[in-house]
Amino acid sequence: MEQRKKIFVHVLMFLFMVLLRKTSNVEGGEEEDRIFELPGQPKVLFDQFSGYVTVNHVAGRALFYWLTEAQQNPLNKPLVIWLNGGPGCSSVAYGASEEIGPFRLNKTASGLYINKFSWNTVANLLFLEAPAGVGFSYTNRSSDLLDTGDRRTAKDSLEFVIQWLERFPRYKNRELYITGESYAGHYVPQLAKEIMTYNIKAKQPINLKGIMVGNAVTDNYHDNLGTVTYWWSHAMISDLTYKQLISTCDFHHQKESDECESLYTYAMDQEFGNIDQYNIYAPPCNKSDGSSSSASRHSMRLPHLPHLAFRKMAGYDPCTEKYAEVYYNRVDVQKALHANTTGIPYKWTACSEVLNRNWNDTDVSILPLYRELIAHGVRVWVFSGDVDSVVPVTATRFALAELHLTTKIPWYPWYVKKQVGGWTEVYEGLTFATVRGAGHEVPLFKPRAALQLFKSFLAGKPLPKVLK
Ligand SMILES: *[C@@H]1O[C@H](CO)[C@@H](O)[C@H](O)[C@H]1NC(C)=O
Ligand SMILES: *[C@@H]1O[C@H](CO)[C@@H](O)[C@H](O)[C@H]1NC(C)=O
Ligand SMILES: *[C@@H]1O[C@H](CO)[C@@H](O)[C@H](O)[C@H]1NC(C)=O
Ligand SMILES: *[C@@H]1O[C@H](CO)[C@@H](O)[C@H](O)[C@H]1NC(C)=O
Ligand SMILES: *[C@@H]1O[C@H](CO)[C@@H](O)[C@H](O)[C@H]1NC(C)=O
Repeated sequence: MEQRKKIFVHVLMFLFMVLLRKTSNVEGGEEEDRIFELPGQPKVLFDQFSGYVTVNHVAGRALFYWLTEAQQNPLNKPLVIWLNGGPGCSSVAYGASEEIGPFRLNKTASGLYINKFSWNTVANLLFLEAPAGVGFSYTNRSSDLLDTGDRRTAKDSLEFVIQWLERFPRYKNRELYITGESYAGHYVPQLAKEIMTYNIKAKQPINLKGIMVGNAVTDNYHDNLGTVTYWWSHAMISDLTYKQLISTCDFHHQKESDECESLYTYAMDQEFGNIDQYNIYAPPCNKSDGSSSSASRHSMRLPHLPHLAFRKMAGYDPCTEKYAEVYYNRVDVQKALHANTTGIPYKWTACSEVLNRNWNDTDVSILPLYRELIAHGVRVWVFSGDVDSVVPVTATRFALAELHLTTKIPWYPWYVKKQVGGWTEVYEGLTFATVRGAGHEVPLFKPRAALQLFKSFLAGKPLPKVLK
């Protein structure tokens, strides 16, 4: 009799819990964001969630995220935010679909296949499309697209993190790392700084442990100087053009003189040839195959590097840039992702040209932020694919040299699968590493090496020194 009563009470409690869960779901809990399966997706054992977080109620700005949890023991693994750059490019298009995410898109954009070097083998990955106007992230105040810059991106991203943790309370005390590439060289440290400031007064501080950026836009002057130096040292331009660029251009300012601009144009149009600037040794996309390797070369500009082409990035298959735009515009895909629920009045694109062209404000240098993060004990790792000519390794080295950091472990080659993966130097507070033979999107070109880099970063340990 007692036993029966006990069972009855248990059943009642169970039903009560189920009911409780159901009601909490109605209030925008994480279950509403669960992805059951994406069209063309292979079966997987990890959980996925995606959806919107409102970051500004007045304007109606909502940021879109996609969480792919760790493949094993997600509860014991850190939370890692990934951001792509542009400004204006989507981390769903690049980070999730070509670089570190668990799936890659196949050639017909009708299916996905497994990326065995996905970073979700070791961490929970949170892809954030930022700022509003990128990918599925939207704003109901269309003028926002014309005056967004570094500031709003950082503030909205902080609001996103705070609200997202409310939706996913089990991540609240989890170790958080922020990572990204290219123009996210601004977003990542800027968001880290926002979090640090927020934490001063917060009842429940966000457990930020570290940041890692790759081929990162860092410091206007040194980036620009390092870029033309790379072009010269990799025999992409003549001695004369190099000398003229050095003597004519100012390198500090967003707007260069006409004289300097025309030197850049000459270098790119007359001297570069039809190469993939994001990986100078990769074959470029064959334009008659329907892609736009140089057509859009002058159509978009990075605000910090006025001379530089902005174009959708190319990978091993330099024509891949269109696959994502086919797949993520599919109605069934958007439905599965809980994306575009309000009928965004334009198509999903890998990069937003409108945001890019109208970028409002940009830090001239983020080195002061590095100093602050280091002083607060935040782990800082900077890596660089060494065959990228857009934000090249020389740019990063010139910029980092300005920090005058003390060397802890001198320059050495690091290994992955018995090969030199690249070179690294460990400083007090910052680790620098190159990835040999990788282009701008390091995890796309060198997935195994990139995963090793990520593992070492999370462990806070120097990269492997010995043949392994
Ligand atoms: C944007 O407007 C749509 C349509 O009025 C509304 O459903 C949605 O909630 C708004 N988004 C935000 C973030 O306020
Ligand atoms: C892409 O994936 C779909 C769905 O899994 C499959 O039917 C199709 O054959 C694949 N195409 C290519 C080129 O791999
Ligand atoms: C480019 O593609 C076209 C059509 O597929 C082909 O005829 C041409 O040989 C290709 N060119 C190069 C340089 O590969
Ligand atoms: C959103 O959906 C509408 C149809 O409701 C479609 O026309 C539009 O291209 C979509 N936009 C995005 C960004 O997905
Ligand atoms: C645009 O940039 C200026 C500084 O360059 C700044 O004062 C202003 O707040 C920015 N606007 C927005 C909307 O962030």
